[in-house]
Amino acid sequence: MARPTPYYPFFDRLFRQSVTVDLGTANTLIYTDDGGIVLNQPSVVCFQKEAADRPKRVAAVGTQARQLLGREPANLEAVRPMRHGVIANFSAAEHMIRQFVDMARPRPFFSRRAAFTLCVPAGATQVERRAIREAAAAAGAWKVSLIGESLASAVGAGLPVSEATGSMVVDIGGGTTEVGVIALGGMAYNGSIRVGGDSFDMAIVSYVRNLYGVLLGEQTAEHVKKNIGSAVRDVPREHMNATGRSVDDGLPRTVQLSNHDIADAIEGPLRQVIGAVKRGLETAPAELVTDIANNGIVLTGGGALLGNLSRRLTSEIGLEVRIADEPLTCAVRGAGMAAAAGLLDELAYE
Ligand SMILES: Nc1ncnc2c1ncn2[C@@H]1O[C@H](COP(=O)(O)OP(=O)(O)OP(=O)(O)O)[C@@H](O)[C@H]1O
Ligand SMILES: [Mg+2]
Repeated sequence: MARPTPYYPFFDRLFRQSVTVDLGTANTLIYTDDGGIVLNQPSVVCFQKEAADRPKRVAAVGTQARQLLGREPANLEAVRPMRHGVIANFSAAEHMIRQFVDMARPRPFFSRRAAFTLCVPAGATQVERRAIREAAAAAGAWKVSLIGESLASAVGAGLPVSEATGSMVVDIGGGTTEVGVIALGGMAYNGSIRVGGDSFDMAIVSYVRNLYGVLLGEQTAEHVKKNIGSAVRDVPREHMNATGRSVDDGLPRTVQLSNHDIADAIEGPLRQVIGAVKRGLETAPAELVTDIANNGIVLTGGGALLGNLSRRLTSEIGLEVRIADEPLTCAVRGAGMAAAAGLLDELAYE
């Protein structure tokens, strides 16, 4: 449970800082008005396990902790506290946020007591939202506002969110895909599915196990996806080697995978992503859909970088699809800009 945070109005006014945090399934980013993106780290925390002579403590966070994921020695435990855009392990999330804020804060004595704006997926339940608020409060925030990830991504991608024209943004993160239609500063449609880059990685792991009898680590699968991943099959073949453990004898084995293999492997989750986009077009108000047909769709989040994804989406839905500049940082930049400018109406926040 979060500790109650004492409130000192005088100090808050004096040292108040506004911090925006995108606590993502794969990556956490922190943005401040004066410093821009001050932290960009994998959402991983590594604990040194409890022993007779010492309590459990944080041994590493972020990049360092990620390197240990799946290869940690017996006394260490690497954890990904977020799953599908929400907290899966509360205490680990709290520790991770605390460490990240400490790493990012420019003024060491005061700025942990900042006003936080956090991105949340549209599909997060009330309980999940409260957990995110409490984790931020426990890590030192004196005030916590939440903003929908779609809206934040749309602002970060430079879409004209406050105009009457409808814009569609599709944010494909590690754990969720968010489809948003925005007009006049508010959400006209917001859909969220618990499918994202992690689902692609797991699909690659099970494809390689079923077809080649080799068990890949999730990080190896992600590495292959980033290097030769493709959302379509009709491209020249490219190959890459991946090493895992043979299901038969438990010994290391290397398999050669092609971009066509990856396209086959990820077809299931990819169809779910395409389905979510189609549902958005079917459900959003007709006038806005006309605008989207004219202006196209914008992709954000790391999943937007999957090879040939925009081509695949265009061929499935017949609209122009473009990838935002710097898709991995759109949500945090957009949330920071929205919070600073009061750009969006009160309804956008909770
Ligand atoms: N070049 C690439 N090709 C395919 N996928 C990529 C590429 N680069 C990053 N990704 C994927 O993007 C995902 C991370 O994206 P992002 O940082 O936007 O997610 P997140 O915000 O942490 O997650 P969420 O929003 O779901 O909580 C990972 O699954 C990663 O594998
Ligand atoms: Mg995200």
